[in-house]
Amino acid sequence: MQDLVAEVLGVKPIEVYEVSTFYTMFNLKPVGKHVLEICRTGPCQLRGSDELTAELERITGAKVGGGPSADGLFTLKEVECLAACGFAPVVQVREKYYEQLDTEASVNAMLSELRNMVHRPALPWEEKGLPNAVANN
Ligand code: FES
Repeated sequence: MQDLVAEVLGVKPIEVYEVSTFYTMFNLKPVGKHVLEICRTGPCQLRGSDELTAELERITGAKVGGGPSADGLFTLKEVECLAACGFAPVVQVREKYYEQLDTEASVNAMLSELRNMVHRPALPWEEKGLPNAVANN
């Protein structure tokens, strides 16, 4: 897909690879319905983001940096500061922040909300009619 983007844009493939592998908002592999971006920067780490990541991996069965969970619902990613340090530890799912995820109840509430979300908002390429398989490759 990145080679195709380079061809369409008229740039060298390496230029597309440089951008697409630098920014975490580009998904280079298929992802689940919900991409949980877990902040791993200092303040969140001090407030338990490592433990939160381990707990999310245990509950969902997905692994950070790996593919989606077996049920296709969750993909876990670690990201840098989400600019909500005062509410650490923080997870971003699309435009929504889940904050102070330092209790079992708060983590379960987030996952329950996401599991019960029948539809998520359409992604930009979906609005244009492109399938995920094309957008994610
Ligand atoms: S360190 Fe996590 S939001 Fe800033």
